[in-house]
Amino acid sequence: MSALPRVEAAGLILDPATYLAPMEGVTDRSFRSLVLEQNPGAVGAACTEFLRVAQHPIAAERIALELGDPVPGVAVGVQLMGNDPAVVAETARRAVAVGAAFVDLNFGCPAPKVFQHCAGSALLGEPELLGELVRATVDAAGVPVTAKIRAGIEHDREVEEIARRVEQAGAVLLTVHGRLRTERYTLPTDWSRIRRAVDAVSIPVIGNGSAESPADIDRMMEETGCAGVMVGRAAIGNPWIFAAWRARRLGEAAPPPPDAIAWLREYETRMLAGGAQPRQALGRLKQAAKAMGNAGTLRFSDRTQLLRSQDAAAYFAILKQENQPNASKLDTGSPK
Ligand SMILES: Cc1cc2nc3c(=O)[nH]c(=O)nc-3n(C[C@H](O)[C@H](O)[C@H](O)COP(=O)(O)O)c2cc1C
Repeated sequence: MSALPRVEAAGLILDPATYLAPMEGVTDRSFRSLVLEQNPGAVGAACTEFLRVAQHPIAAERIALELGDPVPGVAVGVQLMGNDPAVVAETARRAVAVGAAFVDLNFGCPAPKVFQHCAGSALLGEPELLGELVRATVDAAGVPVTAKIRAGIEHDREVEEIARRVEQAGAVLLTVHGRLRTERYTLPTDWSRIRRAVDAVSIPVIGNGSAESPADIDRMMEETGCAGVMVGRAAIGNPWIFAAWRARRLGEAAPPPPDAIAWLREYETRMLAGGAQPRQALGRLKQAAKAMGNAGTLRFSDRTQLLRSQDAAAYFAILKQENQPNASKLDTGSPK
């Protein structure tokens, strides 16, 4: 395999061309910083979970808190979701003032509450307003503006038109989650929709949806022609997926099996240091362990017992019973 692909889009550089997906309730700054640090040279971009912009611009302090500290070598942006161009634009200006490397606009969220308020994926059905939002943000931000779309609401007939609308309004990069709004998060994603968006625009397209392994990242690029790949849920089950992809792509030896329990302990430490309540942190730890169990990163025979644990001490005791450091059965994705 060749050297790592990179994306350069009017001042926004993804080097390499991989992107940790924003996931509300998962990729807070603790999770994000840990993934970015533990995949050195393997993730080119990340952004905050969506920040819902309603009637008033979001305070700069809140945006700064969501953004966290910069991570060298990684472009970290702020994702905004709203439907009032002036309010979104002002929030974008504030995001840039607190260090956002780029501003991403969310046109993909399928949640009914969001949809009813004409935000997220609902804007796929309002192309003019979608264009106005991108344009107003571009005019205000002074940093690259990007957009993340789904392939459509109930059908994919307009994926090209939406992609072109995003480009014409001045976005420098487009992420296409290949599912429809009605498909929510079910598998598999129809990657031909990503290919159609790639063919419709000249800005770089990041493909997203169902990249489950390091090999899938390369396959998505090959099959769709996308410039880079965004990985979502697979990075919860395997937070080292990007490093494994990097090694695979460079033909290097697979990284040593990571210590998943140490990762979870560090995750907890960062959450608590960031002000999370212990109960809240425990909820996130259980969520992560569940995904790691499904991915084979961690072993635990009694899932119910783990999910019922009342505090972090009980949780880690259960995990330690069956997992020795560096004993995870992770598929590193290196060439066999
Ligand atoms: C729990 C969860 C929260 C999500 N939150 C966001 C979000 O805040 N912003 C966004 O653009 N997409 C969000 N997504 C969608 C993901 O970014 C991604 O597009 C989707 O999971 C498909 O990628 P995957 O198949 O690699 O998981 C979320 C997905 C999940 C599962």
